[in-house]
Amino acid sequence: MTRIIAIANQKGGTGKTTTAINLAGGLARTGRRVLLVDADPQANATAVFLGVPAAAGPRESARPTLYEVLLGGMPAAEAVITTRLGADDDAPTLDVLPSHLDLASAELELVNAFERERQLRQKLAPLVDNYDFVIIDCPPSLGLLTVNALMAATEVLIPVDPGLFPLIGLNLLQKTITMVQQANPGLKMAGVVPTLLDRTALARDTQIELQQAFGTRLLPAIPRRVAIGEAHAAGKDIFAYDGNSDGAEAYAALLKEILNRG
Ligand SMILES: Nc1ncnc2c1ncn2[C@@H]1O[C@H](COP(=O)(O)OP(=O)(O)OP(=O)(O)O)[C@@H](O)[C@H]1O
Ligand SMILES: [Mg+2]
Repeated sequence: MTRIIAIANQKGGTGKTTTAINLAGGLARTGRRVLLVDADPQANATAVFLGVPAAAGPRESARPTLYEVLLGGMPAAEAVITTRLGADDDAPTLDVLPSHLDLASAELELVNAFERERQLRQKLAPLVDNYDFVIIDCPPSLGLLTVNALMAATEVLIPVDPGLFPLIGLNLLQKTITMVQQANPGLKMAGVVPTLLDRTALARDTQIELQQAFGTRLLPAIPRRVAIGEAHAAGKDIFAYDGNSDGAEAYAALLKEILNRG
Protein backbone atom coordinates (compact mmCIF):
# COMPACT_ATOMS: atom_id res chain seq x y z
CA MET A 1 0.00 0.00 0.00
CA THR A 2 1.14 3.53 -0.75
CA ARG A 3 2.44 5.38 2.27
CA ILE A 4 1.21 8.97 2.21
CA ILE A 5 3.22 11.05 4.67
CA ALA A 6 2.14 14.58 5.57
CA ILE A 7 4.96 16.66 7.05
CA ALA A 8 3.29 19.12 9.37
CA ASN A 9 3.85 21.62 12.14
CA GLN A 10 1.97 24.92 12.39
CA LYS A 11 5.12 26.57 13.70
CA GLY A 12 7.18 28.18 10.95
CA GLY A 13 10.76 27.24 10.12
CA THR A 14 10.94 23.87 11.88
CA GLY A 15 12.48 22.07 8.89
CA LYS A 16 9.28 20.73 7.28
CA THR A 17 10.30 21.54 3.73
CA THR A 18 13.90 20.44 4.26
CA THR A 19 12.66 17.14 5.63
CA ALA A 20 10.13 16.73 2.80
CA ILE A 21 12.82 17.38 0.19
CA ASN A 22 15.36 15.02 1.68
CA LEU A 23 12.88 12.24 2.37
CA ALA A 24 11.40 12.49 -1.12
CA GLY A 25 14.84 12.71 -2.76
CA GLY A 26 16.30 9.99 -0.56
CA LEU A 27 13.40 7.60 -1.19
CA ALA A 28 13.56 8.22 -4.95
CA ARG A 29 17.27 7.41 -4.84
CA THR A 30 16.47 3.99 -3.37
CA GLY A 31 14.41 3.28 -6.50
CA ARG A 32 11.04 3.88 -4.90
CA ARG A 33 8.35 5.68 -6.87
CA VAL A 34 7.80 8.98 -5.08
CA LEU A 35 5.42 11.90 -5.50
CA LEU A 36 6.22 15.10 -3.61
CA VAL A 37 3.13 17.26 -3.13
CA ASP A 38 3.89 20.88 -2.31
CA ALA A 39 0.86 22.05 -0.33
CA ASP A 40 2.50 25.27 0.86
CA PRO A 41 1.85 28.59 -0.92
CA GLN A 42 5.43 29.59 -0.06
CA ALA A 43 6.29 26.94 -2.68
CA ASN A 44 9.74 26.29 -1.23
CA ALA A 45 9.83 22.61 -2.17
CA THR A 46 8.74 23.55 -5.70
CA ALA A 47 11.54 26.11 -5.90
CA VAL A 48 14.11 23.53 -4.81
CA PHE A 49 13.22 20.86 -7.35
CA LEU A 50 11.67 22.87 -10.22
CA GLY A 51 13.35 26.26 -9.84
CA VAL A 52 12.30 29.63 -8.45
CA PRO A 53 10.38 30.81 -11.56
CA ALA A 54 8.07 27.78 -11.28
CA ALA A 55 7.34 28.67 -7.67
CA ALA A 56 7.05 32.43 -7.82
CA GLY A 57 7.28 33.52 -11.47
CA PRO A 58 4.52 35.20 -13.48
CA ARG A 59 1.40 33.11 -13.29
CA GLU A 60 0.68 32.99 -17.04
CA SER A 61 3.97 31.38 -17.91
CA ALA A 62 3.96 29.08 -14.91
CA ARG A 63 2.86 25.49 -15.11
CA PRO A 64 -0.41 24.31 -13.64
CA THR A 65 -0.12 23.73 -9.91
CA LEU A 66 -1.98 22.29 -6.97
CA TYR A 67 -4.15 25.41 -7.20
CA GLU A 68 -5.65 24.33 -10.54
CA VAL A 69 -6.03 20.81 -9.16
CA LEU A 70 -7.80 21.83 -5.96
CA LEU A 71 -9.95 24.58 -7.41
CA GLY A 72 -9.84 24.42 -11.18
CA GLY A 73 -11.00 20.85 -11.68
CA MET A 74 -7.70 19.82 -13.27
CA PRO A 75 -6.75 16.14 -12.83
CA ALA A 76 -3.70 15.93 -10.55
CA ALA A 77 -1.79 13.83 -13.10
CA GLU A 78 -1.83 16.76 -15.53
CA ALA A 79 -0.04 19.02 -13.06
CA VAL A 80 2.64 16.52 -12.01
CA ILE A 81 6.17 17.27 -13.23
CA THR A 82 8.84 14.58 -13.35
CA THR A 83 12.29 15.81 -12.44
CA ARG A 84 15.61 13.98 -12.67
CA LEU A 85 17.76 13.93 -9.53
CA GLY A 86 21.09 14.22 -11.31
CA ALA A 87 22.68 15.01 -14.64
CA ASP A 88 22.93 11.43 -15.93
CA ASP A 89 20.19 10.00 -18.12
CA ASP A 90 19.80 7.10 -15.72
CA ALA A 91 19.63 9.27 -12.58
CA PRO A 92 16.55 8.55 -10.44
CA THR A 93 13.45 10.63 -10.99
CA LEU A 94 11.03 12.30 -8.63
CA ASP A 95 7.48 13.43 -9.41
CA VAL A 96 6.44 16.81 -8.04
CA LEU A 97 2.96 18.27 -7.77
CA PRO A 98 4.03 21.91 -7.59
CA SER A 99 2.74 24.83 -5.62
CA HIS A 100 2.84 28.51 -6.47
CA LEU A 101 2.49 31.69 -4.42
CA ASP A 102 -1.06 31.84 -5.77
CA LEU A 103 -2.01 28.89 -3.62
CA ALA A 104 -2.36 31.41 -0.78
CA SER A 105 -5.81 32.34 -2.04
CA ALA A 106 -6.74 28.66 -2.39
CA GLU A 107 -7.09 28.46 1.36
CA LEU A 108 -9.79 31.13 1.23
CA GLU A 109 -11.47 29.78 -1.87
CA LEU A 110 -11.57 26.26 -0.46
CA VAL A 111 -13.76 27.48 2.38
CA ASN A 112 -16.75 27.45 0.06
CA ALA A 113 -15.93 24.19 -1.69
CA PHE A 114 -18.07 21.09 -1.27
CA GLU A 115 -16.28 18.63 1.02
CA ARG A 116 -13.58 21.21 1.44
CA GLU A 117 -11.39 19.05 3.72
CA ARG A 118 -11.35 16.15 1.27
CA GLN A 119 -10.33 17.92 -1.92
CA LEU A 120 -6.68 16.83 -1.87
CA ARG A 121 -7.57 13.26 -0.89
CA GLN A 122 -10.07 13.02 -3.77
CA LYS A 123 -7.74 14.60 -6.31
CA LEU A 124 -4.81 12.36 -5.38
CA ALA A 125 -6.88 9.16 -5.32
CA PRO A 126 -6.51 8.35 -9.06
CA LEU A 127 -2.69 8.49 -8.93
CA VAL A 128 -1.80 7.21 -5.50
CA ASP A 129 -1.38 3.63 -6.74
CA ASN A 130 1.37 4.76 -9.13
CA TYR A 131 3.62 5.52 -6.16
CA ASP A 132 5.27 3.79 -3.22
CA PHE A 133 5.39 7.06 -1.29
CA VAL A 134 3.57 10.37 -1.43
CA ILE A 135 5.24 13.08 0.66
CA ILE A 136 3.15 16.19 1.39
CA ASP A 137 4.91 19.39 2.52
CA CYS A 138 2.45 21.42 4.62
CA PRO A 139 2.35 25.17 5.25
CA PRO A 140 3.07 26.57 8.74
CA SER A 141 -0.58 26.76 9.81
CA LEU A 142 -3.42 24.51 10.85
CA GLY A 143 -5.64 25.89 8.10
CA LEU A 144 -7.51 24.10 5.36
CA LEU A 145 -4.42 23.17 3.33
CA THR A 146 -2.89 21.34 6.29
CA VAL A 147 -6.23 19.72 7.12
CA ASN A 148 -6.51 18.62 3.46
CA ALA A 149 -3.03 17.10 3.72
CA LEU A 150 -3.88 15.26 6.95
CA MET A 151 -7.13 13.99 5.40
CA ALA A 152 -5.21 12.63 2.42
CA ALA A 153 -2.40 11.10 4.49
CA THR A 154 -1.85 7.69 6.05
CA GLU A 155 0.84 9.12 8.36
CA VAL A 156 1.91 12.42 9.81
CA LEU A 157 5.53 13.29 10.52
CA ILE A 158 6.28 16.28 12.75
CA PRO A 159 9.60 18.13 12.57
CA VAL A 160 10.28 20.07 15.78
CA ASP A 161 13.07 22.63 16.20
CA PRO A 162 14.60 23.61 19.55
CA GLY A 163 12.35 26.04 21.39
CA LEU A 164 10.75 26.98 24.67
CA PHE A 165 7.91 24.68 25.71
CA PRO A 166 7.77 22.68 22.47
CA LEU A 167 4.96 20.53 23.83
CA ILE A 168 2.50 23.41 24.00
CA GLY A 169 2.53 23.94 20.24
CA LEU A 170 2.52 20.20 19.64
CA ASN A 171 -0.59 19.89 21.78
CA LEU A 172 -2.47 22.07 19.36
CA LEU A 173 -1.25 20.01 16.41
CA GLN A 174 -2.15 16.81 18.25
CA LYS A 175 -5.70 18.12 18.75
CA THR A 176 -6.01 18.79 15.03
CA ILE A 177 -4.69 15.31 14.25
CA THR A 178 -7.18 13.72 16.67
CA MET A 179 -9.99 15.68 15.05
CA VAL A 180 -8.94 14.63 11.56
CA GLN A 181 -8.65 11.00 12.68
CA GLN A 182 -12.41 10.91 13.25
CA ALA A 183 -12.87 11.36 9.50
CA ASN A 184 -9.61 9.66 8.45
CA PRO A 185 -9.18 6.84 11.00
CA GLY A 186 -6.25 5.39 9.05
CA LEU A 187 -4.06 8.40 9.91
CA LYS A 188 -1.11 7.26 12.04
CA MET A 189 1.50 9.26 13.87
CA ALA A 190 4.76 8.45 12.06
CA GLY A 191 6.73 10.27 14.70
CA VAL A 192 8.46 13.44 15.78
CA VAL A 193 11.77 14.46 14.21
CA PRO A 194 13.98 16.82 16.21
CA THR A 195 15.49 19.23 13.68
CA LEU A 196 18.02 22.06 13.66
CA LEU A 197 19.66 20.43 16.65
CA ASP A 198 22.72 22.30 17.92
CA ARG A 199 24.82 22.33 21.07
CA THR A 200 22.72 24.88 22.95
CA ALA A 201 21.06 24.21 26.29
CA LEU A 202 17.73 24.97 24.63
CA ALA A 203 18.25 22.20 22.10
CA ARG A 204 19.23 19.78 24.86
CA ASP A 205 16.15 20.65 26.94
CA THR A 206 13.88 20.32 23.90
CA GLN A 207 15.36 16.92 23.17
CA ILE A 208 14.74 15.75 26.77
CA GLU A 209 11.13 17.00 26.72
CA LEU A 210 10.45 15.31 23.37
CA GLN A 211 12.04 12.08 24.57
CA GLN A 212 9.81 12.03 27.65
CA ALA A 213 6.67 12.85 25.73
CA PHE A 214 7.14 10.69 22.65
CA GLY A 215 9.45 7.81 23.65
CA THR A 216 9.69 5.36 20.79
CA ARG A 217 7.90 7.75 18.46
CA LEU A 218 10.87 10.09 18.62
CA LEU A 219 12.77 9.60 15.37
CA PRO A 220 16.50 10.14 14.64
CA ALA A 221 17.43 13.81 15.04
CA ILE A 222 18.71 16.09 12.29
CA PRO A 223 21.61 18.35 13.33
CA ARG A 224 21.86 22.01 12.33
CA ARG A 225 24.42 21.98 9.54
CA VAL A 226 25.40 24.66 7.05
CA ALA A 227 25.39 22.12 4.20
CA ILE A 228 21.71 21.28 4.80
CA GLY A 229 20.70 24.93 4.39
CA GLU A 230 23.06 25.39 1.44
CA ALA A 231 21.62 22.36 -0.37
CA HIS A 232 18.19 23.96 -0.05
CA ALA A 233 19.48 27.19 -1.63
CA ALA A 234 21.32 25.25 -4.36
CA GLY A 235 18.10 23.49 -5.40
CA LYS A 236 19.29 20.04 -4.35
CA ASP A 237 18.64 17.46 -1.70
CA ILE A 238 21.47 16.88 0.76
CA PHE A 239 22.40 13.61 -0.98
CA ALA A 240 23.16 15.45 -4.22
CA TYR A 241 24.70 18.47 -2.54
CA ASP A 242 27.07 16.65 -0.18
CA GLY A 243 26.37 12.95 0.10
CA ASN A 244 29.27 12.41 2.51
CA SER A 245 28.24 15.09 5.02
CA ASP A 246 26.87 14.18 8.42
CA GLY A 247 23.70 16.02 7.39
CA ALA A 248 23.26 13.42 4.64
CA GLU A 249 24.03 10.70 7.16
CA ALA A 250 21.37 12.03 9.54
CA TYR A 251 18.71 12.15 6.83
CA ALA A 252 19.74 8.65 5.69
CA ALA A 253 19.28 7.39 9.27
CA LEU A 254 15.84 9.01 9.45
CA LEU A 255 14.88 7.49 6.11
CA LYS A 256 16.02 4.04 7.22
CA GLU A 257 13.95 4.29 10.40
CA ILE A 258 10.87 5.38 8.46
CA LEU A 259 11.31 2.45 6.08
CA ASN A 260 11.77 0.05 9.01
CA ARG A 261 8.59 1.27 10.66
CA GLY A 262 6.47 1.01 7.50
N1 LIG B 1 19.24 20.85 9.66
C1 LIG B 1 19.38 22.10 9.19
N2 LIG B 1 20.57 22.73 9.26
C2 LIG B 1 20.71 23.99 8.80
N3 LIG B 1 19.73 24.70 8.23
C3 LIG B 1 18.52 24.12 8.13
C4 LIG B 1 18.28 22.78 8.59
N4 LIG B 1 16.98 22.48 8.36
C5 LIG B 1 16.44 23.55 7.79
N5 LIG B 1 17.34 24.54 7.63
C6 LIG B 1 17.10 25.89 7.10
O1 LIG B 1 16.19 26.52 7.99
C7 LIG B 1 15.23 27.26 7.26
C8 LIG B 1 13.84 26.72 7.58
O2 LIG B 1 13.76 25.37 7.13
P1 LIG B 1 12.51 24.86 6.30
O3 LIG B 1 12.21 25.79 5.18
O4 LIG B 1 12.76 23.45 5.97
O5 LIG B 1 11.40 24.96 7.42
P2 LIG B 1 9.82 24.90 7.24
O6 LIG B 1 9.28 24.29 8.49
O7 LIG B 1 9.48 24.27 5.97
O8 LIG B 1 9.47 26.45 7.19
P3 LIG B 1 8.00 27.04 6.87
O9 LIG B 1 7.24 26.82 8.15
O10 LIG B 1 8.24 28.47 6.55
O11 LIG B 1 7.44 26.26 5.73
C9 LIG B 1 15.60 27.12 5.80
O12 LIG B 1 16.37 28.23 5.43
C10 LIG B 1 16.45 25.86 5.74
O13 LIG B 1 17.40 25.88 4.71
MG1 LIG C 1 8.23 24.94 4.45
